[in-house]
Amino acid sequence: METFQALLALRLSEALVRAGLPPAGDLTPATDSRFGDYQTNVALGLAKQREETPRALAQSVCDVFDGSDLCERPQIAGAGFINFTLRADALEKQLTGLAKDERLGVARTEAPRRIVIDFGSPNVAKPMHVGHIRSTVLGDALARIATFLGHDVIRDNHIGDWGTQFGMVIWGWKNLLDRAALTSDPIAELVRIYKTTNERGTAEPAVREACRDELVRLQAGDQENFAIWQECVALSMHEFERAYQVLGIRYDIQRGESFYNDRLPAIVERLQASGLAEESEGAICVFFRDIPELADKPCIIRKSDGGYNYATTDIATVDYRLDDLQRDTVWIVTGAPQQLHFRQIFEIARREDRQADFHHITHGSILGEDRKLMKTRSGENVALKDVLDEAIVRARKIIEEKNSEMDEAERAAIAQIIGIGAVKYADLSQYRMTDYVFSWDRMLSFQGNTAPYLQNAYVRIQSIFRKAGEQPADDADKISLSDAAEKVLAKRLCQFAEIVPAILNDFRPNVLANYLFELANSFHAFYEACPVLKSEKPTRSSRLALCKLTARVLHRGLDLLGIGVPERM
Ligand code: ARG
Repeated sequence: METFQALLALRLSEALVRAGLPPAGDLTPATDSRFGDYQTNVALGLAKQREETPRALAQSVCDVFDGSDLCERPQIAGAGFINFTLRADALEKQLTGLAKDERLGVARTEAPRRIVIDFGSPNVAKPMHVGHIRSTVLGDALARIATFLGHDVIRDNHIGDWGTQFGMVIWGWKNLLDRAALTSDPIAELVRIYKTTNERGTAEPAVREACRDELVRLQAGDQENFAIWQECVALSMHEFERAYQVLGIRYDIQRGESFYNDRLPAIVERLQASGLAEESEGAICVFFRDIPELADKPCIIRKSDGGYNYATTDIATVDYRLDDLQRDTVWIVTGAPQQLHFRQIFEIARREDRQADFHHITHGSILGEDRKLMKTRSGENVALKDVLDEAIVRARKIIEEKNSEMDEAERAAIAQIIGIGAVKYADLSQYRMTDYVFSWDRMLSFQGNTAPYLQNAYVRIQSIFRKAGEQPADDADKISLSDAAEKVLAKRLCQFAEIVPAILNDFRPNVLANYLFELANSFHAFYEACPVLKSEKPTRSSRLALCKLTARVLHRGLDLLGIGVPERM
């Protein structure tokens, strides 16, 4: 199935050819629906090149435009814009097609990529905090969308399970560990021994020295230290898994930093041999002297003490993804502070002539009500677990107020769908680079651009079907559009297939979120203006079919964002 945008673009280029003009023309959704549904400014650009008047050129295109099966006669507006308004019968035909299409009109990509998405990627022996929501939820949504569009996706958790902090963790483990505390809350105990060791190390050079020894021993493969490290990783992974289960996140592979450890010496040798890396004050570095912003920011791939860096691991990670996993596209989702790091990594890959598309997909921060980074009263990061638990508790209270006769198991299940959906949607409905204020009241509200509002629209439709005593079939009778509100809703439903592929242009799931919000608004306007159950056949079945399509788009759209829908709430 083609979208209206694609169909009209084709007709437009045919008209351009007929008018003796070059066929390329941009056709976009109208910015103001009063002037139509789609528009093009092609006449403005062409007229400028050819020194003609734009309105006259637009007229010559309109004269030979053949689209009477799709739209009304195109209208010329302003300086020479051409506006197109869809015909009701074309919309009816399109909707009948959408209703039968399992993909709701969304085409599979013609250029499928082999993508690896690196997202979430928390660090061992540190708690997952509220900040991890962004990369985790954004990466998951992008993975779902890319998969739906027909790309081959591997989801990789690049866990921070190696590095200098383990010297301190191991020393703390040997000297400070409280076994009982470790059993009751492992991550809290790991954090405590890490912090205490760090403080002691700052004050006592002997402790600092001892930590370095522990690290060297770990890196040399000492059995005792290796076993401690393994236990720390296992405890942390267990904690991560719990969060992923509540969030509904899954990974295909989890290659932590330690996985690349054996590969690091060869990387440094290779870059030195090819002349890309050089020695500088005892360290091995890659310089970017020809790139002004990076000229004074070399990438250190081996420190003067012989240790390797985060960057070295990431160069090995590029190798693994391209060579072992056979990927042609790499998406890395992390916060904006890592921009310089990935700029360097991607530049090194380019210099090594690695053929792949690399994208660093960055995001902003989550703020507290005071518009500063979200922290607890005592100034700590807010634990992710606490946020997720509270989301579910709060959602449960709301359901109890709304619907007191629901049984316990159903209430718990729905509270999870609504609470977690609210947290995810609050994040995904923002442009990813924007910092946003975390507000329980706003995200759990049934009004406004929130998950509960969208879930509620879906639930309302299901209750219409229950009252109707039927679930309309997907290949429902012909849909006919007479009321203005029906047409607006119909156009929105057709836009789903245009919106979904566009999300990946700049990795913006918020475009989908905002679309779903507008769809729900259009549905409510339709439901106010057009009686469904009280109307006569065939209007009744046509309107039920519109309800059904709306529910399917809401369901699918929320699913692409990683958000569930309850059948009741
Ligand atoms: N563990 C890192 C952090 O918490 C994120 C890792 C991102 N991925 C990567 N390939 N470096 O900041």
